[in-house]
Amino acid sequence: MQNSLFANVAELPRDPILGLTEAFVADKNPGRVNLGVGVYQDESGKTPLLACVRLAEENLLAKAAPHSYVPIDGLGGFNSAITRMVFADSADFAHVATAQALGGTGALKLGAELLKVISPGAKIWISDPSWENHRALFSAAGFAVETYPYYGADGELDFSGLIAALEKIPAGDVVLLHACCHNPTGLDLSQEQWRRIAKIVRKRGLTPFLDTAYLGFAKGLDADAFSVRLFAEDGRPVLVSFSFSKSMSLYGERVGALSVLTASSAERGRVLSQLKRIARVTYSSPPSHGAAAAALVLADPALRTQWVDELARMRLRIKAMRTALAANLSERLPNRDFSYITRQNGMFSYSRLTAPQAIALREKYAVYALDSGRICVAALNGKNIDFVSECIAKVMTEV
Ligand code: LMR
Repeated sequence: MQNSLFANVAELPRDPILGLTEAFVADKNPGRVNLGVGVYQDESGKTPLLACVRLAEENLLAKAAPHSYVPIDGLGGFNSAITRMVFADSADFAHVATAQALGGTGALKLGAELLKVISPGAKIWISDPSWENHRALFSAAGFAVETYPYYGADGELDFSGLIAALEKIPAGDVVLLHACCHNPTGLDLSQEQWRRIAKIVRKRGLTPFLDTAYLGFAKGLDADAFSVRLFAEDGRPVLVSFSFSKSMSLYGERVGALSVLTASSAERGRVLSQLKRIARVTYSSPPSHGAAAAALVLADPALRTQWVDELARMRLRIKAMRTALAANLSERLPNRDFSYITRQNGMFSYSRLTAPQAIALREKYAVYALDSGRICVAALNGKNIDFVSECIAKVMTEV
């Protein structure tokens, strides 16, 4: 028989985040807990279907609209609602090119391909550490990816390291920043720190790319959009990736957007034409259902109020779980300080588990955390928190 075309194809390692979910699903242990992926679960351990989304979906079903193609750049109402929500009055909307994207990852990909057209020689600077997929995605788009310091040896934000690195990045390079709920560390910048960063980014002629996947999970929608609006206020270019996966619990619907603030409506038109070309040759046009539901939630005042309220409840439940985890661990290991868990924002805690400890947690107790020690606090609940705390305390002392 002839050699198969695929005889020498390399086997790649599993994805560091979604691959862990694959291992979790295959695990037969009935007590298993998945603290790997960033998915919010409610107190009963389920990913919620938000009431506002359900009502919007019922409304869409009642209309029984045919499944036509949506425009290449997505639903117009969705795109303008996102633009208004993210930028508020910080930008001239006539200068903002927004295209619906396949979740936050799809938005980053649209941005990466756009940058490839505009600044092919630029380097992309991401935080050390950053979301695992940032490096992979920009490398796959053909960029050299570098890092700036973010997480200090003391487990706190290394702001002076970050500033010193920014001061050395060559003009024209792209700096990827997490608008809020830094993934994976949960350590966010203060408004004062953002102002200093924006000043340096401007002075050095760098291009800011803000990832807002967790908007609404730190303090609230407007407060969490502070950095985006700060960059937008002076009208200089900024790219913003956005996702409704977390904030509307629309994970599988792949609902996101990329917004690009340009200098004029003519520039906006040209940028949008580029985004449409990228979309057209990649997936032709985005899916409609999730974006239509999200657009309805944003457009209907009652549904929108309900959403803001449901989002606040998710945010507060995560905060309560942080407090409970820190208290539970402090009780078990009274000589250690776990207050850092309560100072972090968003779905994750950079738990300070080492890689061998995270592996032991998985292999001995079927509690799945990333090897970096990142745990999803949003997967904790009143039923599993004791068990998880007990297992973390054990590996922290035994491994
Ligand atoms: C995560 O960081 O776990 C989430 O953003 C999900 C993903 O796609 O990695």
